[in-house]
Amino acid sequence: MITSTKENSKHSPILSVQHLKKYFPIRNTFLKRRVGWLKAVDGVSFDIFPGELMGLVGESGCGKSTLGKTILGMYKPNEGKILFKDKDIIKLSIDEKRKMRRKIQYVYQDAAASLDSWWSVGRLLREPLVIHTKMTRTDMDDKVLYLLNAVGLRCEDLYRYPHEFSGGQQRRLGLARILTLNPELIIFDEPTAGLDVSVQAKILKLLITLKEEFQLTYIVISHNLSVVRMICNRMAVMYLGKIMEISTTETIFNKPVHPYTKTLIESIPQIGERKKHDNLFLKGEPPSPENMPPGCRFQSRCSFKKDICEKIEPSLQEVETGHLVACNL
Ligand SMILES: Nc1ncnc2c1ncn2[C@@H]1O[C@H](COP(=O)(O)OP(=O)(O)OP(=O)(O)O)[C@@H](O)[C@H]1O
Ligand SMILES: [Mg+2]
Repeated sequence: MITSTKENSKHSPILSVQHLKKYFPIRNTFLKRRVGWLKAVDGVSFDIFPGELMGLVGESGCGKSTLGKTILGMYKPNEGKILFKDKDIIKLSIDEKRKMRRKIQYVYQDAAASLDSWWSVGRLLREPLVIHTKMTRTDMDDKVLYLLNAVGLRCEDLYRYPHEFSGGQQRRLGLARILTLNPELIIFDEPTAGLDVSVQAKILKLLITLKEEFQLTYIVISHNLSVVRMICNRMAVMYLGKIMEISTTETIFNKPVHPYTKTLIESIPQIGERKKHDNLFLKGEPPSPENMPPGCRFQSRCSFKKDICEKIEPSLQEVETGHLVACNL
């Protein structure tokens, strides 16, 4: 894959996603026969290097969560490869897959829903260690206390239940639970959704601290560009199941090339500032992923559309080192 920046080209990627497709069947209501495909992820390729924070942005329904869940193994892809440390996850045996899966963790959009409200914090954090390791009870208790402290919770919290915590504390708890399994790659799905701005900032700061302390690599899925700008070093912009632009966060924000990226950046609310480009706005709704238009999938909403865009589907092309754009113009 050619999605690396200059510094990254020295390392091999921790994760390489190649031409990944995940289609959901559309069935007719009576006979339940498949009548088409909903193309949620439609040929996505990118690499992530150890220690990177990679952002994945795009409008609601563009396939961000489906991509994350397919990488995690929740969905079987229709096509493509997912290489984790050079091993194709899809082709591993069930036993190898189970071991590999511990290395990749997913933090769900709804943090509270992934915590069993009948279990105390102590039990919630100890359970993965009981299932997946042969640690002694004392070692487990030490690890649980260490992680609780690392995510900013107190040892008294061991005896409380998830519903007794605030939204921000529940995120911290979810993080501690995931860290029990020593993951290497964590996929965060909307890590700050539903939190007020001051808590958002604390959670983002915590993510950065934990990344350094536990030598993690992150994929941060968000429709909030400011979140990605704050913590990610590289980012990909998705539209209707495809990556339209990928580069360093700095380049995407300062020198965006794809009209969709430019429009998304223009749409970030800014107090007291006039828009730089009045002709840049998102027209209407995106087409349905069940019925994709021919040519460029962004053409119906693009302010710069040309005839060619109705005929030719652009592929990602390198415009400068590590900066790839899928646009006919
Ligand atoms: N399990 C599923 N079965 C059928 N269709 C699905 C399934 N999961 C997602 N989809 C569809 O796939 C498309 C992409 O959904 P996805 O949840 O990946 O979007 P998203 O980018 O994460 O959106 P949001 O920002 O709202 O979370 C949508 O059209 C959605 O309806
Ligand atoms: Mg989602």
